[in-house]
Amino acid sequence: MILVTGGAGFIGANFILDWLAATGEPVVNLDKLTYAGNPANLTSLAGDARYELVRGDIGDKAAVAELLARARPRAVVNFAAESHVDRSIHGADVFIGTNLVGTFNLLEAARGYWSGLDGAARDGFRFLHVSTDEVYGSLAEDDAPFTEASAYRPSSPYAASKAGSDHLVRAWRLTYGLPVLITNCSNNYGPFQFPEKLIPLMIVNAMAGSPLPVYGDGGNVRDWLYVADHCAALRAVLEKGRIGEVYNIGGNAETSNLAVVRALCTLLDEMHPAGSPHARLIDFVADRPGHDRRYAIDDGKIVAELGWRPRETFDSGLRRTVGWYLGHQDWVSNVQSGEYRNWIRTNYESRAA
Ligand code: NAD
Ligand code: TYD
Repeated sequence: MILVTGGAGFIGANFILDWLAATGEPVVNLDKLTYAGNPANLTSLAGDARYELVRGDIGDKAAVAELLARARPRAVVNFAAESHVDRSIHGADVFIGTNLVGTFNLLEAARGYWSGLDGAARDGFRFLHVSTDEVYGSLAEDDAPFTEASAYRPSSPYAASKAGSDHLVRAWRLTYGLPVLITNCSNNYGPFQFPEKLIPLMIVNAMAGSPLPVYGDGGNVRDWLYVADHCAALRAVLEKGRIGEVYNIGGNAETSNLAVVRALCTLLDEMHPAGSPHARLIDFVADRPGHDRRYAIDDGKIVAELGWRPRETFDSGLRRTVGWYLGHQDWVSNVQSGEYRNWIRTNYESRAA
C-alpha cells in the first residue's frame, strides 16, 4: 500500500493509473479536490478494491496522521500542490499555504508514523517529494542544463514555494533521518492536464476557434516531458533511488513556446481539420512578469543510476496528447466550470494587446 497525495490532479492521476497497471499495489489517494482535483480522472477505477479516495488537506496534520495509522502505507508520494505560475502571481497565499505549510505538516505526520515503525517496515519506508525544475530559476540560451547541484533561484511565487518545500524535505532527512527522495522534473504534458497550462489550453482554444495567447515573443524554452515517462521515472526512484538523493527528470525536448504552439496547430490541421489553418489563431499577448526564459534538464544522474530514459519523443507525445483531448471532449467541457471561465477572464483580459 502506498499513499499518494494530490492524486486527483494531472500527474497524480496518471501516476495512480500507471502504478496500478504496473505493480497492482493498492493506493490511497489523499486529495483536497481543489479546482485542479478531478475525481473523474480516476473513474476507470470505480469499484476497484485497490484504490481509495480520501478527501482531505495535506496541511491537516491530525487527519493525515489518522490516515497513515489506518492505511499503513510503505511510502508517501507527495504530488499535492498549487501548481500554476500565473495563479501564483494573482494570489500567492494558497501557494504558501499548501506548498510550504502543507508540506511541513505532511512531513511531520509522516515522521510521526515512520518513527513508530520497526524493523523492515521502518527501513523500507520512503517519502517521495515531487518537485519542479522551476526551483533552479532561468537559464540563458547557452547555459548548461540544470543538474542536481544547480543553485536554487526561484523566480515566481509558485517556484519559491516549491523551493521552500524542497528545503523542508531535505532538512527532515538531515535532522530527523526521515527516508526522503526528491525529484525535480521539467514541464509535463499528456492526458488529464487541466487546460490552464500551455499545451492543453492551446488545444482546447484551437478546437473552439478561440485565440491562442502566446506570452511575450514566444521565445521562452521549456523541456517537455510526457507524463507517462515521468510516472515511470517516479516508480524507478521509489524502487531504486538512494535515500536523501535528488533526481532531475526531463524529456530531452527543449522547445520554444511558439514552436510548441505551431506544432499543435499543424497536428490539429491534420487531426481536426475544421477551422484550419489553426495557426491563424496565434495571438501575441503581454508577457508574464518574472517570466523564466529557459529551463533545461541534465538527466545524466537518473539515466546512469536508475537506467531510466524517456520513451516518447516530443513529436510522438504531442500526437498522443492531441488525440486524447480530441477523444475526450466531455472531459474538457466538464472541467470548463464557472471557476475556469473566471480564471480565463482574470488572466487573459488584462493581457490583450
Ligand atoms: P495539479 O494542479 O494538476 O494537481 C494538484 C492536485 O493536488 C489536485 O488534485 C489538487 O486537488 C491537490 N491539492 C491541492 N492542494 C492540496 C492540499 N492542500 N491537500 C491535498 N491535496 C491538494 O498539479 P500537477 O500538474 O499534477 O502537479 C503535481 C505535482 O508535480 C505538483 O507538486 C507540481 O508542483 C509538480 N510538478 C508539476 C509539473 C507540471 O508540468 N505539471 C512540473 C514539475 C513539477
Ligand atoms: P505553463 O504551462 O504555465 O508552465 P510553466 O509556467 O510552469 O512553465 O507555461 C509554459 C510556457 O508557456 C511558459 O513559458 C508560459 C507560456 N504560456 C503562454 O505563452 N501562454 C499561455 O497562455 C500560458 C498558460 C503559458
